[in-house]
Amino acid sequence: MKFFLDTANVEKIREFAEMGIVDGVTTNPSLIAKEGRNFEEVIKEITQIVDGPISAEVTKDTANEMVSEAESLASIHDNIVIKIPMTKEGIKATNMLAKKGIKVNMTLVFSPAQALLAAKAGARYISPFVGRLDDISHIGTELLISIREILDNYDFECEIIAASIRNPLHVVEAARIGVDIATIPPAVMEQLFKHPLTDIGIERFKKDWESVFGK
Ligand code: E4P
Repeated sequence: MKFFLDTANVEKIREFAEMGIVDGVTTNPSLIAKEGRNFEEVIKEITQIVDGPISAEVTKDTANEMVSEAESLASIHDNIVIKIPMTKEGIKATNMLAKKGIKVNMTLVFSPAQALLAAKAGARYISPFVGRLDDISHIGTELLISIREILDNYDFECEIIAASIRNPLHVVEAARIGVDIATIPPAVMEQLFKHPLTDIGIERFKKDWESVFGK
């Protein structure tokens, strides 16, 4: 399973990338805005830290506008993947970009039907939003099961990115389902490391050692 970081914060990306556990990065307009920095500058900096797919999202509404935005973003670095929202215009843009060899991550996917459309249009990645479904009392991980099943029936060249991850259980469930990638916010990545018994165990080993051998 691949781990992407879901953030535009370069310090956090650097911190986890140094551990060798970051395969890519996803950003979105909200995450970029949160950093208050120049969009292209941030994206360029991320490509220098992580050697893997880096998603940058378009902000325009029509297919033609999305394609020209995408072309300019894709020119920043070979690893740039264009995030396109799941709309009719987005599907049209995805198809146009796929034909040009520009990889698309179809975002804001909330149903199996939308995922199927994205795969047919040529999206290289599909991002079902697990947490936002949970927020409206749907079981987000059930969407992952359906999309996994659909993609396994055919040979689309398309990977699932479990997105809108809110807790470690979302990551673990995605892994059990066989989802290709989880894009994880830094705070959740932090939580993945934790277990109280690990801390207690370290403390006990240290105490026992020091009681005989000293510090
Ligand atoms: C996915 O690529 C999105 O950037 C992200 O996962 C959205 O998460 P949120 O629902 O926590 O905003």
